[in-house]
Amino acid sequence: MADIIPEQRVDEEKIYVSKIEKGVVIDHIDPCKGLLVYKALNPEPDATSVIAKNVSSKRLGRKDLVKIEGEYLASSQIDLIALISPRSTVNIIDGWRVKEKRRVKPPTEITYILDCKNPVCASRGQMSAFRVNLKEPIEHSHLDCTYCGYRVFYNEAIEAILNKASSNLLFSRSRIKREFLNLLLSKGGLRTEGGYVLKSKRVSPYFVNLGALNDGESLSRLRWILAGYAWILLNEGEIEDFDFIFGPAYKGINLAALTCEGFNEYVGLNKRYIYDRKEIKTYGDTSMDMSIVGAEYLKGGQKILVVDDTITTGFTKVESVKKIIEMGENKVVGVLVCVDRQELSEDGSTATEKLERALNVKVFSILTAREIFESLKPRLDATKKNEWIEYYEKYGAIKLH
Ligand code: CTP
Ligand code: ZN
Repeated sequence: MADIIPEQRVDEEKIYVSKIEKGVVIDHIDPCKGLLVYKALNPEPDATSVIAKNVSSKRLGRKDLVKIEGEYLASSQIDLIALISPRSTVNIIDGWRVKEKRRVKPPTEITYILDCKNPVCASRGQMSAFRVNLKEPIEHSHLDCTYCGYRVFYNEAIEAILNKASSNLLFSRSRIKREFLNLLLSKGGLRTEGGYVLKSKRVSPYFVNLGALNDGESLSRLRWILAGYAWILLNEGEIEDFDFIFGPAYKGINLAALTCEGFNEYVGLNKRYIYDRKEIKTYGDTSMDMSIVGAEYLKGGQKILVVDDTITTGFTKVESVKKIIEMGENKVVGVLVCVDRQELSEDGSTATEKLERALNVKVFSILTAREIFESLKPRLDATKKNEWIEYYEKYGAIKLH
């Protein structure tokens, strides 16, 4: 006997394309605009994705549909979708379920996604911004540069947005990891000549120093990387939503500030950041911020994401986080670090495990030693490659080959 397809399933347009586990679904796209949305979003070449054209829809009669697995939108990209197809719905999928559904709104202003063509415009090298003069239909709209008033008509704007698509990047783990590694390598934040003596006295074939990323360009890219990674963790339910970002002194401070700024900039969520002092303050209004700067905003029962460069189980760091928790039954939702060296310490456990145990939270890293090695491998000569392998043979929580 042939299998009977349940009646309800035949009705659903879902029959055309399978469900996804996590990622974004842009639904109710005007017919024939799906490809445009897809091109403008420019997913990773190897992303699992679907463009469905002219699917039947109760609301629109016909619609297009775009699904991208494991990638997430910045707010500017939601505006972009709205500009191309103002009736679209953006669904965030997690664990096979629709976690969030948003009807897009035609934007009155767009930032980032379009550059001004006026050669003497003050927006050059800055964040571009255009006022959108919405008309019905949207194709009759025009956009004016908020800096110089330069006018672009709708079709021209869409074409320019498509040309710029490679710089309006969706947030995906693989893209962020690649961007971060490139940033580290190009700015001297990752050294691979070898012979580096670490605090542990181990002689390492590589050295990570986020302090080398101290120019404006690096900081701006780091902001995208940090906020993007935290946004993915949030979308994929790896961490709960949080109110504060805590950056342990010293290196964590600016990383927390960058993550915080990036959240506002790219995701449109306004969080606060706090940090600790290494030296307790003994003057001024010492009631609140003697050791934790920004503590006066912690009203209790709040959720905190910790952001740092690498994982160390440093006594003061753990103490600071505990102090913040105790300030009013606050909760740490997770720790995000830039690089995990995946090494074992004397007692046979990793720094990650120790920190996870001490704080009873999960630690996430943007890049691991294994990922760094795998990316560098094709460029390493046999001797260098062996140095890495032997180092991890001796000290690693992982084996390399
Ligand atoms: N979807 C998906 N993978 C999932 C869940 C949903 O690809 N795991 C897609 C569905 O195919 C649909 C969209 O996400 O295109 C929204 O899902 P849902 O809210 O379940 O569908 P509708 O009720 O049809 O949405 P709406 O109310 O927006 O019309
Ligand atoms: Zn301009």
